[in-house]
Amino acid sequence: MKYDALIRAAQRAMKNAHAPYSKFLVGAAVQTESGEIYSGCNIENSSYSLTICAERVALFKAVSESHRKFKAIAVAASAKDFVSPCGACRQVIHDLGGNIDVILTNSRGATKLLKMNDLLPFPFDSEQLKSSK
Ligand code: THU
Repeated sequence: MKYDALIRAAQRAMKNAHAPYSKFLVGAAVQTESGEIYSGCNIENSSYSLTICAERVALFKAVSESHRKFKAIAVAASAKDFVSPCGACRQVIHDLGGNIDVILTNSRGATKLLKMNDLLPFPFDSEQLKSSK
């Protein structure tokens, strides 16, 4: 599949997950429009709500290296079932990437290709900030 390298990057990043509380390891990798790949893992905190998901780590790393246009994000997790981005990550992925490809994987080696608009229909976005009276 055309996103094999991206999937492998997400799987590699998963090994760096810092998840001592949930033990749920997640990795993600984003592909920029120019073809670079940035990966991230979930990083938990003893003050649980400060935990950050793998998807946002990967995206924020890319943005902090000046990237603003994205093609796809892949997610890998230590689970038999496909793991889908949480609601907060859907908002962030859509805000930064728009209707990009989303590749879900599971620990059995299966993949599922979705579009971001399928995961977050009718999103809040910057256009709505312009419509205040
Ligand atoms: N997690 C992610 O990193 N990405 C997701 O899409 C779902 C959840 C993390 C957050 C937390 O560290 C652990 O998985 C359990 O919720």
